[in-house]
Amino acid sequence: MTLVLLWLLSLPLPALSEALDLQCTLQNVFNPGFMADGHFVIGGIFPLHYNQEMPDLNCTYKPGPVKCNGFDPRAFRWALAMKLAVEEINNSSKLLPGHTLGYKIFDSCAYPLTGQRATLAVLNGRNEADMPMCSGAGPMVAIIGESGSAQSIVLSRILRPFMIPMVSIISYFSSCACLSDRREFPTFFRTIPSDAYQVKAIAKLLLHFNWTWVGVVRGDHAYGHFALQGLLKELDGTSVCIAYQEMIPLLYNTRRALEIIHVINSSSARVVVVFSAEGELTPFLRDCMEQNLTGIQWVASEAWVTASVFTESKYYPLLGGTIGFGIRQGHIPGLQEYLMMVNPQKYPSNPLVQELWGALYGCSPSPSSSSSGGTQLPFCTGQETLHKQHSAYMNTSNTRITYNVYKGVYAIAHSLHNLMSCKPGNGPFINSTCTDVTKVSFTISGERVNFDMKGDSIPSYDLINWQKGTAGNIELVKAGIKYDIFIYILLFTKNYNYLSFLTSDCCVFGKQVPVSVCSDSCTPGFRKAVRNGEPLCCFDCVPCDSGKISNQTDSIDCMACPDDYWSNVDGTACIPKVVEFLSHDAMGVILTVIAVVGACVTLSVFTVFLYHRNTPIVRINNSELSFFVLFSLTLCFLCALIFIGEPTSWSCMLRHTTFSITFSLCISCILGKTLVVLAAFTATQPGNNVMKWLRPVQQRIIIFSCTLVQMLICAAWLIASPPFPYRNTQYQHSKIILDCSVGSDLAFWCVLGYIGLLATVCFVLAFLARKLPGNFNEAKYITFSMLIFCAVWLAFVPAYVSSPGKFTTAVEIFAILASSFGLLLCLFAPKCYIILLKPEKNTKQHLMGK
Ligand code: TRP
Repeated sequence: MTLVLLWLLSLPLPALSEALDLQCTLQNVFNPGFMADGHFVIGGIFPLHYNQEMPDLNCTYKPGPVKCNGFDPRAFRWALAMKLAVEEINNSSKLLPGHTLGYKIFDSCAYPLTGQRATLAVLNGRNEADMPMCSGAGPMVAIIGESGSAQSIVLSRILRPFMIPMVSIISYFSSCACLSDRREFPTFFRTIPSDAYQVKAIAKLLLHFNWTWVGVVRGDHAYGHFALQGLLKELDGTSVCIAYQEMIPLLYNTRRALEIIHVINSSSARVVVVFSAEGELTPFLRDCMEQNLTGIQWVASEAWVTASVFTESKYYPLLGGTIGFGIRQGHIPGLQEYLMMVNPQKYPSNPLVQELWGALYGCSPSPSSSSSGGTQLPFCTGQETLHKQHSAYMNTSNTRITYNVYKGVYAIAHSLHNLMSCKPGNGPFINSTCTDVTKVSFTISGERVNFDMKGDSIPSYDLINWQKGTAGNIELVKAGIKYDIFIYILLFTKNYNYLSFLTSDCCVFGKQVPVSVCSDSCTPGFRKAVRNGEPLCCFDCVPCDSGKISNQTDSIDCMACPDDYWSNVDGTACIPKVVEFLSHDAMGVILTVIAVVGACVTLSVFTVFLYHRNTPIVRINNSELSFFVLFSLTLCFLCALIFIGEPTSWSCMLRHTTFSITFSLCISCILGKTLVVLAAFTATQPGNNVMKWLRPVQQRIIIFSCTLVQMLICAAWLIASPPFPYRNTQYQHSKIILDCSVGSDLAFWCVLGYIGLLATVCFVLAFLARKLPGNFNEAKYITFSMLIFCAVWLAFVPAYVSSPGKFTTAVEIFAILASSFGLLLCLFAPKCYIILLKPEKNTKQHLMGK
């Protein structure tokens, strides 16, 4: 019919009108492979051949008959399963009693155009030759077909414009999610679950094995296209990334295949998901073998995971360990016997049976027939053995697609039965109608068969793993099942004993799950940094900045530690910050020892002076003031001790005040001494009675008042804003520096300034008095001591401001100790030297320089 239409359209107008006068006749015959008559006829379209030679589409002459190559015993088995089911139903008294089913089974040669011809031939009634007038359709009710989704789409589209609402298509192998579109394919049903479920399952599988870096290879057809789109959608937002997507071209060519193999080989993705079928996979895998491709973990789609073609042992290094979801298997009672019964004797004139014999045994049952492949096969002797690659034909222990075909026929029979036995107004459907054929539900061989609202079957898969068989061949092992959205899978109980994979050193099976990641995961302490322009799965691991941690593998970000915490060296945990202050550690101990030694030395000097208090050198130098100086120096040394240890509010307040007061006391005493020296020498000049004003009482008043000033400043400081302990977290992030804040900077610098002022005054006066006569003029030493004192404290200022943490305190203590030692040594060493070592010089005469 179509051919006529096409031909009409190709004619010029006058020729067209002429042609329309002609009767409608069939231009070509297309005979079914098997057929039987019945009240209702079911069409069957199967790819009984792998491929066909491209037809000549010149249209200027009548095309020759279709030439198909590569007989496929598997599809032949599907066809026989259909035949079996119809015969069973016809023999059944329960199903469709009083009616018979007929069938017409055509070969599509796995080619959409031929499939289309087959569809039209199916529609054309009993037999094209019998009804040359195209006068109407036969009692056709449904078509079982097609295998590939692309073919099914063509088939469905053909039926739509003809508006044959009764004829529905029930596919056994077309799983494309696109076929669930009820508007586009209103009469399409199937006994295979939609790929929407398969891609979900595959996505889960990838995630389960942590295969986050995978390649996808697909065929150039609707099935491959939609399965890939579905998988991408499922993987979107998960941790799995697609390393590459490659397409095996429709017209297979080795150059393109080599490019794809190169991509597979050079990518770090070891897991490859393949949405393709035997048709293009056979040459592709052959090329892979030639290129010695190994070490790939294949994830097979349902279209080839159960294909027996690849189970030969030679494929083992390439395909061993392959895993994928197969269509759920079912048992067809009596199929084995039925298949056994098919032989050339029973169907002497059926070319398909002849070809089956050729494929299975490599011989031709009748001398005249030649296989359609063109090569002449030897005549069968009866001694031939079954060809290995087709041994699966006879193995009916687990039928999957065959079972789908079988289910399909039963689905048709049951819906017909329902329609026939339904009384209008009494039907099982909405408003008690009888019309909804989609609501079919029945049980065969223990399985409840249902269809969903889209006419799809309820999803259910077997997890198939290609393991090493006893003969070195590949065995398809059922490793688990997946039903609906639930995964009752042996695999997912973490029991991998059912699975085996190819290990990385080729060709050994192992339980170890292969690894396919773009980047190794980041250990705790590191975070992922996505590489520019690369997918999310490819990242570098960068260590967390200090103060931040990550305690999980593959952290996206490092978390900042809470305030008083800091990261450990590895960056994996927050640990309390080290609280730092000058304590009794090495530095603290040394400083304590120095301070104590200083105090002791001062006290010894004190004792020496006390012991020798009546010797001239002590007396001449104002012994009372000397004792004061020694006393305050002892305090100076001791006040350094307050600076060591954990700062508390008390020690903070004490620190600077005691220090400043003792130092003021000390410098005041020295100032007093200087004044006395100055006064004593000026008093020798006649008419000068300064000495009168510098008697011991006055001296004490001077000392006391000088110290009092400092005391007042300190009192004001303590009242207004006293120093307090302070946790400095800013200076060093990893530590808390426990320190005394001075409270008021002004007060602090005032206190220091006042000491500085006293020292300067003292220095100036002593400097003036240094040249005064006498063998033991103390002014010289006072000048010197003040010089040292000022130098120490001037050096202190920059050191204090710039030293970090506990060193600030250490610097301060150091300044205290250094200046105290300076004073002690300059003022008292020379005297002690004379007292202890040169007692002969300790005479009045000598000291007066006489
Ligand atoms: N499930 C596949 C499909 O829907 C199975 C299939 C059968 C196939 N024959 C094919 C896929 C040919 C690609 C080509 O199409």
